[in-house]
Amino acid sequence: MAVETQLLERDRQVWEGILADHGAKTSAVLQILLDINQHYHYLPQESLEWLAGQIRMPISQVFSVATFFKVFSLTPRGRTLIHVCTGTACHVKGAQRLIERLDKEMHLKPGETAADLAFTLETVNCVGACASAPILRVNEDTHSEMTPNKVSELIQELVKKEG
Ligand code: FES
Repeated sequence: MAVETQLLERDRQVWEGILADHGAKTSAVLQILLDINQHYHYLPQESLEWLAGQIRMPISQVFSVATFFKVFSLTPRGRTLIHVCTGTACHVKGAQRLIERLDKEMHLKPGETAADLAFTLETVNCVGACASAPILRVNEDTHSEMTPNKVSELIQELVKKEG
């Protein structure tokens, strides 16, 4: 069965909208992938195959772009991304204790996504805020000078927001 016939209609509409925003051209591949990634929080494989056909780019090249940038994920990620910085300054100031608290209270280890796709926990190298280490990011928000207790408070807020 052709890939396209397996797609859900609503997915096709999302992708076509994104494609219309940027134009069906190879030079727009990065921006299109960013938008797809933002919509799903990852890049569904079907979307890559579909995009390759639409912009007439070999699927291997689309995969190359999708795997080159750390912002992209080929596996499902949660609606809320939690990044703990494990760069040198954050490591020295206790990043591991933040990770342990997240594991204890959310049952997530780095690289894992909750079964309900609410949260993903990842580590990241220095985010350039060493003076305020240790750093934890929630989506685009940066939390400075974190402690395990502050992590617990943050988790409560995030869980409440998720409903
Ligand atoms: S090491 Fe974490 S912000 Fe620099």
